[in-house]
Amino acid sequence: MKEFPHLHPRCAEKMSLSTEERLTEISSPRWIGYPKAHQILQKFEDLLRHPRVARMPNLMLVGRTNNGKTDLVQRFCQSHLPDPNAEGGRIIAPVMYIQAPPSPNEADLYATILSSIYERVPSASTSAKRTRTIQVLKDIGVKVLCIDELHNSLAGSTLKRQHFLNAIKNLGNELRISFIACGTEDILRAISIDPQIQNRFQPILLPKWKFDQDYRQLLRTFEAVLPLKEPSNLHSGLLGRKIYATSEGSIGELSLLLNQAASFALNSGEEKITTDIISSCGYTPPSDRSREASRNI
Ligand SMILES: Nc1ncnc2c1ncn2[C@@H]1O[C@H](COP(=O)(O)OP(=O)(O)O)[C@@H](O)[C@H]1O
Ligand SMILES: [Mg+2]
Repeated sequence: MKEFPHLHPRCAEKMSLSTEERLTEISSPRWIGYPKAHQILQKFEDLLRHPRVARMPNLMLVGRTNNGKTDLVQRFCQSHLPDPNAEGGRIIAPVMYIQAPPSPNEADLYATILSSIYERVPSASTSAKRTRTIQVLKDIGVKVLCIDELHNSLAGSTLKRQHFLNAIKNLGNELRISFIACGTEDILRAISIDPQIQNRFQPILLPKWKFDQDYRQLLRTFEAVLPLKEPSNLHSGLLGRKIYATSEGSIGELSLLLNQAASFALNSGEEKITTDIISSCGYTPPSDRSREASRNI
C-alpha cells in the first residue's frame, strides 16, 4: 500500500527528511492553483495575445490585501520571462512588472519603469523621462505592463490623480500595450473620476473566500503539500470551519495559519493539524492583530 496517501507524491518523497528540513519545507513559498486563479491567468494570457489595436484592452485585478493578487501577476510574469538573446542579441520582454510609485507622480512612474529594467533614468525633465520610457519599451517589445499596488499612486488630489491616469492612458495609446493593474477596492473609486480609464479597464474581482466546495478543495490541496505523517482532514466539517473562521477568508492568512499549525504539529510530534493546534499554534487572526495594534497606539 502507498505510504502517506494523504500527500502529493512529491511531498511524500520528502517524508524521509529530518524535522529541520521538513520545517524549512513548510515555510518555503508555494503556489496552489484554484479555479478562480486559473480563470484569471487565462484572461492574462488572452490579453497578451490580443492583436495590437488603437485602443488596447486592460485589466484591473481588485481584491482585499493578502488575497493572492501579487502572486497571480508574478506567476503570469514567470511564465513569460524576458528572452535575453532574441534577434540580434536584443532583450525581448513581452511582460513587465512594476510596483506603482507611492504617489501620483508622472515622472516617478517613468523612473520606476526604467529602473525595473536597469535603465539609467534621465535626470532631465518629465518629458525626457517619458521619451526615454517609450523608446525603451518599444525596443524590448513590451506587450503587457503589470502595475501592482496601483491604489498607492491614486491618493492625493483629484487633479493629480487625473494627471497620473492620463499618463498611463497615453503610454497605452502610444505603444499599443495593455496594462494589468492590481489594487484594493479603493482603486475602483479612484478611477471612477475618469470614465475613459474606467471603460478601458475591465475589473476582475478576487473576492474573499466563502466556506464552500472550492475552499474545501483548497484545504485538501494544502494538506497534500504540508509534510506531516498523519492525515489531518483539514476540509472536514468542524476543523475546516474553524480554519476558515480563524483565518478570515484570505488565502494569505490561510497559508500563514496552516504553516504555523503544521510547524507546531511537527515540533510537538503530533504530526497532524487538529482544532486544538489551530487555537494554540500562536497564530493571531488579522482582526485581533489590528485591534491589538490600535490598543497599543
Ligand atoms: N495561489 C496561492 N497558493 C499558495 N499561497 C498563496 C497563493 N496566493 C497567495 N498565497 C499566499 O498569500 C500571500 C499573500 O499573497 P499576495 O499575492 O501577496 O496578496 P495580495 O497581493 O493580494 O496582497 C502570499 O505571500 C502567499 O503566501
Ligand atoms: Mg500585493
